[in-house]
Formats: sequence, C-alpha cells, structure tokens
Amino acid sequence: MPVDKTTTPPRPNLIDFHGVSMVHYFTDNWEKIQNFKARPDDILIATYPKAGTTWVSYILDLLYFSKTQPDRQTSTSLNDRVPFLEITSLNQSSGTDLADSLDTSPRLIKTHLPVQLIPKSFWEQECRVVYVARNAKDNAVSYFHFDRMNYGHPEPGDWNSYLQRFIDGKMVFGSWYDHVTGWWEKKHSHPKIHYMFFEDMVEDTGREINKLCSFLGLTSTTKEKEQIRHQSQFDNMKKDDMANYSTVEVMDFKISPFMRKGKVGDWKNHFTVAQNEKFDEDYEKKMKNTTLQFRTVV
Ligand code: PPS
Repeated sequence: MPVDKTTTPPRPNLIDFHGVSMVHYFTDNWEKIQNFKARPDDILIATYPKAGTTWVSYILDLLYFSKTQPDRQTSTSLNDRVPFLEITSLNQSSGTDLADSLDTSPRLIKTHLPVQLIPKSFWEQECRVVYVARNAKDNAVSYFHFDRMNYGHPEPGDWNSYLQRFIDGKMVFGSWYDHVTGWWEKKHSHPKIHYMFFEDMVEDTGREINKLCSFLGLTSTTKEKEQIRHQSQFDNMKKDDMANYSTVEVMDFKISPFMRKGKVGDWKNHFTVAQNEKFDEDYEKKMKNTTLQFRTVV
C-alpha cells in the first residue's frame, strides 16, 4: 500500500531503552507489557527482526488451526491471529490488548524483544518458545530494505552507514549479536526453547516442520504437514494478502515489498569486498565466546 505522507506520522527516532536501541512504538505500552499475564499453553515466537517471524508464525497458525478453524486464514490477518506483543500505535489495538482478547488455545504471540526484556510471566508459566535466528549478513540486508519501506522505523540512510549501525547494534531492537546469543544462552536455564534457523527452513522446510511438531507435541498427519509446507512456500505466502503485510499503512511496497526475496545469500549482492572483510573481522570478535554457528550459504 502506498504511504499517505499527510496522515503518516514522521519516522521515529532511535532511543536508548534499558541499554537497547528502540523506537517508542515498542516501549510506550511498557507497563502493560511487563505485567502481561502469560498462560501456560501460550507459545511465544521470538526473533530478531527479519529472521523469519512471519514464516514461522504462518506455519504454527496453520498447524494449530487450519483444521479446526479453516476460515480464520482467509478472514483474519496474520497480525491479528498472532499478536505482536510489544507494539502500540494510535490506530490499532496494542499487542497486549489483542493477545488478551484472543480466544484460541494455544495463543500464538510474537515478539522481537531481547531475552532480558521478556515479561517474567512467560518464564513463570514455563511457556514454550520458538526462537528463529538468521545469519547476520542476510539479516542486515533484509532489515535495510525493510527500514527503507517501513515508516514506523528510523530513516535507514545509505547501505554503508546502515551496515555500520548494524555492527554497532544501533538498530530497532538493538544488537543482532546480543539478541541471538542471549536467546541461545537462555536455552540452558529454560529447556522449553526450540531454537531454529532461517537457513534450515530454506534448505528443508518439511524437516523443520517435523521438528516443530515434535517440540510442540503435535500429531499432524504427513498429508497435513505437506499441505502446510506447500502453503507456506515463499511464492504462495507472497500472494496471501492476509500474511504479506500489503494492508499495513506505514509500509510502502513501491519502495520494497515485505516478502522481498526469501533467500539465503542475498548479502552477496550487497556487501562489497571491503565491507565483507570488515564485517567478518568484527564478527569473529563479537561471536568468539559462543557455540552458536550460522550458515551464510546453503
Ligand atoms: S519481521 O518484519 O521482523 O516480522 O520480518 P520477518 O517475517 O521476521 O522476516 C521477513 C523476511 O523473511 C522472508 N520470508 C520468507 N522467506 C522464505 N519463505 C517464506 N515463506 C518467507 N516468508 C517470509 C521475507 O521475504 C523477508 O526476507 P527478505 O530477505 O527480505 O526477503
């Protein structure tokens, strides 16, 4: 949808929020977010932005509800089916209100919050968490194009300065490095985290759906899982107006579509040799103390 500049508020500034770069749309409702009452069967889908949130939300929604509520997928946008916990804006219900009003069991709730900012009731209730991570280079590229078209985020500037900000962690929701490693470490103290990778999803979506089913204790048939794998392919999801964000007012698809490429390795079309060398050198330092490994090609 083209953005109407006369009604769209100016792009927000990056603010420091408990040591994490943020914009006010994700902090204005903080008291309610922190006091959010999770239920034991809630499933939290947690990601750094652009890591595959929409894809995994879509798959989980189909796994749970395509048989029992087949109309849901065509009548209700994915954003309403899977509320975005921390979002608040003038024209819409906040994520917490939307989640509170969901009558499904389980509730699927998505968040981009770093692990240290997650409301404590998710841990107290021992909720299951599906965390999706994507390699830093493709994540940065995808985020750059998203920030170009999304007026709810600060102006991205040119690619070179954007990449430096990514390295410095000056992105909405903070540092990619802190986010992916923070959630990785959390697996030690909270066993109900299924940590998955965008690259694995691209390589073999069916295999990853099987792993999700095992983690969640779902007994979907082979035929159902195959149908969901097919439905959640990039080209099919891109055509689905209930999932492709084409109705979101602050996103300008003339600049870039939300469902952009959906590939592993697009970073090669963006990084110069010099940028790549600098990025790799810094990456080594930042990631030297973690066992977490990513693939930048499949
Ligand atoms: S957001 O705004 O944080 O919720 O974005 P998120 O959904 O996490 O990530 C968007 C990127 O995921 C790609 N995507 C997919 N790739 C492959 N297959 C499917 N089905 C799919 N659905 C979403 C989407 O195209 C964005 O990546 P890029 O690289 O920009 O294309």
